[in-house]
Amino acid sequence: MCYAIPAQIIEIKYPKAIIDYYGEKRNILLDDTKVKVGDYVYAQGGVFVRKIPASEAKKILKVFEDIFFELKKVDASLSKLDQDKIPANLLAVLQKVNLQKSLKKEELLTIAKLNNPAELSVLYEIANHIRQREHGNASCVHGIIEFSNYCQNSCFYCGIRQEQKIPRYRMSINEIVQAAKKAVKDFDFKALVLQSGEDYYYTDEILAEIVRKVKKIGVLVFISIGSRSKETYEKLYIAGARAALIRFETSNPHVFQTLRPPTTLDQRIDLIKHVRKIGYVLATGFILGLPGDDSEEAILNNILLTKSLAPDMYSFGPLIPSKNTPLATRSPISIELVLKTIALARIADPNSNILVTTALETLDANAKKQGLLAGANSMMINLTPTKYKKLYHIYDNRAGLDAEVAQSVQETVDLLKSLGRSPTDIGL
Ligand code: 5AD
Repeated sequence: MCYAIPAQIIEIKYPKAIIDYYGEKRNILLDDTKVKVGDYVYAQGGVFVRKIPASEAKKILKVFEDIFFELKKVDASLSKLDQDKIPANLLAVLQKVNLQKSLKKEELLTIAKLNNPAELSVLYEIANHIRQREHGNASCVHGIIEFSNYCQNSCFYCGIRQEQKIPRYRMSINEIVQAAKKAVKDFDFKALVLQSGEDYYYTDEILAEIVRKVKKIGVLVFISIGSRSKETYEKLYIAGARAALIRFETSNPHVFQTLRPPTTLDQRIDLIKHVRKIGYVLATGFILGLPGDDSEEAILNNILLTKSLAPDMYSFGPLIPSKNTPLATRSPISIELVLKTIALARIADPNSNILVTTALETLDANAKKQGLLAGANSMMINLTPTKYKKLYHIYDNRAGLDAEVAQSVQETVDLLKSLGRSPTDIGL
């Protein structure tokens, strides 16, 4: 993963390069042949974003040098383990992970079934320890712009399914570009997720124009537009999009077909694999707690399917019932179950990037911090213009709807600082 500060290119072997942050090396994908060894660049999610002048880079690096190492110290001390406090069953898990041995499904299932609060709290500490070992203190903070709440689908859980009688909006190309420019100019975001319902008003040509214009601002363009065709994803890659968020939602084919008629899990997985093959940085995952998919084994199956897709980022969050949908009366998921799932994903796939989703924040105001201390290392800040944000009603009582962007960014930066984490997409 990359930091939000400039890195220096130390080696190029197209299409790959090695970059350096104060002596820490990272690999990136470099698709710009004008960049030379010695140049300073911004990179995101393992992808080159833009070059910056050496004089400017040196100034920024000087300002951040002390804080960069100070934050690392705080994170290292918060993620230290006291081996004496670890119960024997979890110590065995930790030893296996430390020896880089994969855990068997039965072993992971035993973890998934833990319920004792004392054991769970040790489990979170172990997951946090592994996160620190694998990723250091880097934590991605992507911005997300929800540009349309029209959707032609009827997913049973979703508050913007086509049957919902809700006010609909579409942002114009210009509005999207302006929102993206503001995110970069005011808050220095380096990666932006552009998300919408499945809305064919945005033809491939319109989407490509949006991608080109947002990319030109100098950010990693991350698309989240659902089950559009393989050709659409190919065209948008050519237009400059480099990352895609597309969840499979559930690993159970029967549940998938029941809740997402008339599509099938096979089709969705085929698309996700294709998106990966095109070369996109991939974020995928599931909804936690769908009916028929909420046993411990089902949750583990969801994690294992995510792992088998070899994504760059795990994105899963609890089902939050949305009014007037077929799942409106489902009982809410407990925060403990979400934290346990984060920890389990971290143990099952130590090197993964795991997102704390807004759905988790909706369960509990303190959830972001708890998620980050249970193995997660990524999050998103909603940058949708205020007048549209409330209309993107995927589920009820979404967190952060009243917060201004400046406030959300400040809260996130403060939280990350208190945990000794370096945000990777906005200033330290
Ligand atoms: N609760 C939680 N997550 C939901 N999503 C849709 N509806 C809900 C809900 N009620 C998620 C889906 C989708 C993402 C954009 O939002 O996983 O992929």
